Amino acid sequence: MPPIEKPTDGEKYDAVFIGGGSAGSAGSRRAASYGKKVAVIEETGRLGGTCVNVGCVPKKIMWHAADIADKIRHAHEGYEFEVPNGAQFHWNKFKPKRDAYIRFLNGIYDSNFSKEGVAYHDGHAKLLSPTVIEITRKDGSTYKINTDKVVVATGGRPIIPSDDDIPGASLGIDSDGFFDLEDQPKRVAVVGAGYIAVELAGVLHTLGSETHLVIRKDHVLRTFDPALQETLTPWIEHTGINLHKQSKVVKVEGERGGELTVHTDKGETFKVDTLIWAIGRRPNTGNLGLQDLGVKLDAKGDIVVDEYQATNVPGIWAIGDVQGKALLTPVAIAAARRWSNRQYGPPKFKNDKLDYNNIPTVVFSHPPIGTVGLTEPQAREKYGDAVKIYKSSFRALYFSMVPAEHKEPSVYKLIVVGEEERVVGIHVIGAGSDELMQGFAVALKMGATKQDLDDTVAIHPTSAEDSEADILGIREVRAPKDKEVLDEDEVQTFRSFRPTFTYPIYGEEEKIYGYKDLVIDLRFASGSLKQYLDVRYSASLPSSSTVDDVRGTLEKFIPKDYYKTEEAFLGRVEEEADSFQPFGEKIYSYTRPAPNSAKKGKAVAGSLSEDDPDAVVYEAWHATWDTPQFKEYHKRMQLFILLYVEAGSYINDEEDSWEFIVLYEKRKRQGVPLVSTYHFVGYTSLFPFFYFPDKHRMRLSQFVILPPYQHKGHGSELYNATYQYVVNQPLIAELTIEDPAEAFEDLRDRNDLKLLLNHEQFMQEAFGDGGITQSSGGGKVGGVGPGRRKGKIAGKAKGKIGPPTDKLWAEEWRKRLKIAGRQFHRLIEMLILLHLEPTDVRSARAYRLQVKERLYRFNYEVLAQLEDQERLEKLEETFQSVKEDYHRILAMVR
Ligand SMILES: Cc1cc2nc3c(=O)[nH]c(=O)nc-3n(C[C@H](O)[C@H](O)[C@H](O)COP(=O)(O)OP(=O)(O)OC[C@H]3O[C@@H](n4cnc5c(N)ncnc54)[C@H](O)[C@@H]3O)c2cc1C
Ligand SMILES: NC(=O)c1ccc[n+]([C@@H]2O[C@H](COP(=O)([O-])OP(=O)(O)OC[C@H]3O[C@@H](n4cnc5c(N)ncnc54)[C@H](OP(=O)(O)O)[C@@H]3O)[C@@H](O)[C@H]2O)c1
Repeated sequence: MPPIEKPTDGEKYDAVFIGGGSAGSAGSRRAASYGKKVAVIEETGRLGGTCVNVGCVPKKIMWHAADIADKIRHAHEGYEFEVPNGAQFHWNKFKPKRDAYIRFLNGIYDSNFSKEGVAYHDGHAKLLSPTVIEITRKDGSTYKINTDKVVVATGGRPIIPSDDDIPGASLGIDSDGFFDLEDQPKRVAVVGAGYIAVELAGVLHTLGSETHLVIRKDHVLRTFDPALQETLTPWIEHTGINLHKQSKVVKVEGERGGELTVHTDKGETFKVDTLIWAIGRRPNTGNLGLQDLGVKLDAKGDIVVDEYQATNVPGIWAIGDVQGKALLTPVAIAAARRWSNRQYGPPKFKNDKLDYNNIPTVVFSHPPIGTVGLTEPQAREKYGDAVKIYKSSFRALYFSMVPAEHKEPSVYKLIVVGEEERVVGIHVIGAGSDELMQGFAVALKMGATKQDLDDTVAIHPTSAEDSEADILGIREVRAPKDKEVLDEDEVQTFRSFRPTFTYPIYGEEEKIYGYKDLVIDLRFASGSLKQYLDVRYSASLPSSSTVDDVRGTLEKFIPKDYYKTEEAFLGRVEEEADSFQPFGEKIYSYTRPAPNSAKKGKAVAGSLSEDDPDAVVYEAWHATWDTPQFKEYHKRMQLFILLYVEAGSYINDEEDSWEFIVLYEKRKRQGVPLVSTYHFVGYTSLFPFFYFPDKHRMRLSQFVILPPYQHKGHGSELYNATYQYVVNQPLIAELTIEDPAEAFEDLRDRNDLKLLLNHEQFMQEAFGDGGITQSSGGGKVGGVGPGRRKGKIAGKAKGKIGPPTDKLWAEEWRKRLKIAGRQFHRLIEMLILLHLEPTDVRSARAYRLQVKERLYRFNYEVLAQLEDQERLEKLEETFQSVKEDYHRILAMVR
């Protein structure tokens, strides 16, 4: 029904809903279905509310677009589909289509009102009394309607900080503004750590925008179960979103619609085209007349209601976002329908109300999250020691064909209580978890036990099926005195972590046959890596059938002297904890503030002295086969290569030339005298090759950091330790990398680039006078950001880097810095790109030629076989994709 054109002043209704969103529409239609005379008042001229116009619906459409972009990438890189010309997303063509669909939905809401006889008033509503509502139309005219009951369903709106609190904040937009964007921003910053921030940042990044996400603490989605936070946060970083942790925006500079400079309280600055605030929502309770009628609001302005949605003023109810609990569309709809059932429905509904417990919800992140029930901290608070956790992590079969760096994680976590193991929380992240949550929510609501879930035969193969390979749990075990200094998160992460790969041990399918409730419990003493192995199960098939030899298979990969009893193992861990010393020679160290110290988040990594009681020291130690006892140690350590390195394999310990750098955490215990103990973090293996005429080329072969230490910068430090070692050895000419995975290549590029950017003499020679003297603001690396570009090449001596680059000069530096040829030339090309003025046509041409010349040399065999024209096209195509990749890498360094 279109809005009433000529309303009758004083018209009387049984019920009036203020707001034509999810709650208002659902509640009014249900009331009308019982034959009541019902009205809805909506002020925007569009029905459907937040969800339809600027929420769930357009958001999910954008998520689908991003999901398709991901799928195209997987199709091309993993499933061997040809994708001609890559996948180009045309935001500016897509947006009008999306808008048209929303208008179509607005029309459906209109016609539903017509069909069901709901009167639609177009204007702003204000309560004059619990029974009289004034409506102000767009032309300023007003009229009143009367009613027996009023339901306030006015929803909420996004918050943007004031310019007084954060100068320039209003240059940013909110989630409503996101849906107005006609073009895709090339660079965007999203502030916030909740649903909306995570969803919008994910969509923008996946569709190709350079994306910054600014969060106040260390994790996103902090009200969700820790397993979800701890899986999604590092994955967000892994995918290339610039995650600014422990950061608050303090200032925004620029012009509306132009480039914006965002400043954080950590001293970082970065430039974007669009800034989106996603820091929460406020209820629409202003200018509604509520305060005059004495309707109680809480400190946030949410309307206070009881379990039946009634306010403290008789005749006025509030439903949906405006009452501040569970801001979700299905909640608004369900509560509103129940309200109408109760008021006007048959007697069986006289007590109908919404149970706000165990509401399932999905976050459309990449990968998505589905969750229902209590989080682990909530369950522990409520049920204490009766809580038990079942958790498994795996990669969905879909990702088996996809390159390692795109394999999204999946984690299933089940929280159960009591002997009967009643399920009180289910938390899932991973492909498909959005769709499967509804079924799990029903099970939870019906009081399912873990046994009920186990007894339900799995549909094979789906993500909801638990991967048998995930029964392998790994622990790094510390002595009790070493555990005392850990914070809660650390205790949790060391308690058990999963392998990324088990196929080198249990075969391609990563399946183990013949057991029920199988658990493989493999523990390592955190320093000496002494092992303990236990294999448990509740039942097995008779040995006449196919039953895998779980222990025997794993024994082929670990030394035979492992512990078989837990008591003996734990005794050994305690006994040797303070006497264990790393092997070989210490070559590198750095510090981090202890996670449970007061300095956490304040001290910058590396800024604490090693003696500071709050410092955790990390040390890298160099060893070879000749180092006493190291060969035995390596036998225990190398299992991590199989478990965490794609296609990793054991190395031959008969070959005498291998070298190793092992990284340890050195942690101070509490009390006096001061005792510090060592704990294994990760390692790298190096193999020296002959380098003409009298040196070695050191090839980095394997590289692993254990999961509890991943995504915390330890990989970069281990790489740095290795590089410093190479630079300090007179007989090593350069460092090369064996077949690096993409993620490792990124790490190497980032470190090498930082090295050059911070090398004063190199930068001086590279860019000529003033090349690095101009101050820039920003941190160590941010110092050479776009802010410095201006006035650099123009007007000054160009320096040796060109373009074109002085080849002799470059080769001199390459040798001095011991960086392998191809890598050094790539770095030079990135640096030139960083400084290239878009208007400097001559330099742009010289740059293109320089890069193409290298690409041609590098790909000579393939290119030489092509016709001239085709060769040129291929080179140009490669040049463009190389350039794009350089921009991506430079963005990571900035
Ligand atoms: C970006 C985004 C994504 C979201 N994604 C999801 C999701 O995936 N799943 C999910 O479940 N939820 C999602 N939500 C939340 C969901 O949109 C809300 O929970 C839901 O819309 C709340 O419904 P409501 O009826 O309470 O309020 P609304 O839908 O906001 O409706 C309130 C209506 O009242 C009108 N109004 C306000 N004041 C007056 C007045 N004085 N007079 C007349 N009219 C007035 C407003 O114009 C509005 O149309 C999302 C929200 C956002 C912002
Ligand atoms: N898929 C869905 O169902 C869906 C999607 C979107 C929205 N919604 C609904 O809409 C509601 C609103 O979403 P939302 O993301 O705006 O809010 P939200 O979920 O409340 O999250 C906002 C987050 O921003 C951070 N924050 C708050 N103030 C900040 C500040 N001043 N500066 C920086 N960060 C700040 C907080 O995280 P820290 O405390 O960690 O900093 C906070 O959790 C949600 O609660 C949800 O119910 C649902």
